[in-house]
Amino acid sequence: MTKAGPASVEFRNVSMRYGSVTAVDNVSFTVEAGKLVTLLGPSGCGKTTTLRMIAGLEIASDGQILIGGQDVTRLSAADRDVSMVFQSYALFPHMSVLENAAYGPTVKGLGKEKSREMALDKLALVGLKGFENRYPSELSGGQQQRVAVARALVLEPQVLLFDEPLSNLDAKLRRRVREEIRELQQDLNLTVAYVTHDQEEALAVSDKIIVMSNAKIAQQGAPRALYEEPANAFVADFIGDANLIDVTVTAVVDGRADVAIGPASVSLPARGLGPGPAKVAIRPESLLLSGQVGQSSLPGTISKCAYLGNHLDIMVETPVGELFVIQYGHHAMLEPGTPVSLSFAGSGVTLIPPA
Ligand SMILES: Nc1ncnc2c1ncn2[C@@H]1O[C@H](COP(=O)(O)OP(=O)(O)O)[C@@H](O)[C@H]1O
Ligand SMILES: [Mg+2]
Repeated sequence: MTKAGPASVEFRNVSMRYGSVTAVDNVSFTVEAGKLVTLLGPSGCGKTTTLRMIAGLEIASDGQILIGGQDVTRLSAADRDVSMVFQSYALFPHMSVLENAAYGPTVKGLGKEKSREMALDKLALVGLKGFENRYPSELSGGQQQRVAVARALVLEPQVLLFDEPLSNLDAKLRRRVREEIRELQQDLNLTVAYVTHDQEEALAVSDKIIVMSNAKIAQQGAPRALYEEPANAFVADFIGDANLIDVTVTAVVDGRADVAIGPASVSLPARGLGPGPAKVAIRPESLLLSGQVGQSSLPGTISKCAYLGNHLDIMVETPVGELFVIQYGHHAMLEPGTPVSLSFAGSGVTLIPPA
């Protein structure tokens, strides 16, 4: 059997309707071959449905799906070279680790010896050499997760899908396993579509993130671009924390906007906006506290201050509402009622269109 290697996945105006429910609404994106692309969004926004359409477990109501440039829109799951790692792992409890991993090739009729050889190879790859004869119930959550990955990898699919693969692991293990998945994907040059609702996980593992909201794509791009230049209030708020403030753009000259934030004024990239009402998204670490009052600063009063080890969480009452500020490093606590002045860092302050 010659393997095709990793393939791209392309959605062209794809929709999925269940009766009156539109689970995925006119979605277009590409997962480039050999890249890890994450579908990120809150529960119910259409992530699993999108993955299932890649796998062929659901057939799209509308639009076109291409894998490796071939139209697979109407192909069943069995006719697509795609494997999926499910949220629950879905290991067979009565089969050993080896039998679980060898399941795919065995069902394909590749023969017992060949299937066993392929399974051993992939189990070694995910660090499970020596665990072949155990049963799933004799493994930790992280080990079960790796068996599921080995089983999905065994036929060397052109595309590998992960649906919230870390949700059954505790917080510390989650970080390690997500790094393992990312390393494996890069070392083996796999095409991966990865689903999560956890923005930090998405930022940590992805080449590209597709943020979904209510069955639609809210924004797609590199992790850094989404964090630094959110296209709308939903993305600004979903990826990282943001203070969303109503502002007025007073003038735009050469792509820079003069923005009135209450009594303060700042100059920001206009991002295509003209004069008029807009919003500004400000990261909590991009609000700088000082005693100095100037034209570009906002007066305020401390309303809360909490000590969280490596940073302070601070709430400041200002003319544009209560703002959330984070101070990293070892700063003195601030008493409620203390007058302060807020200025704006050079990054993490972004104009977005009004809602
Ligand atoms: N088989 C189905 N029948 C009817 N509605 C469904 C079905 N599968 C999913 N949905 C609905 O489609 C929407 C998206 O679901 P899903 O893709 O599972 O979201 P997510 O994975 O982002 O949590 C939800 O409103 C869900 O209730
Ligand atoms: Mg889901």
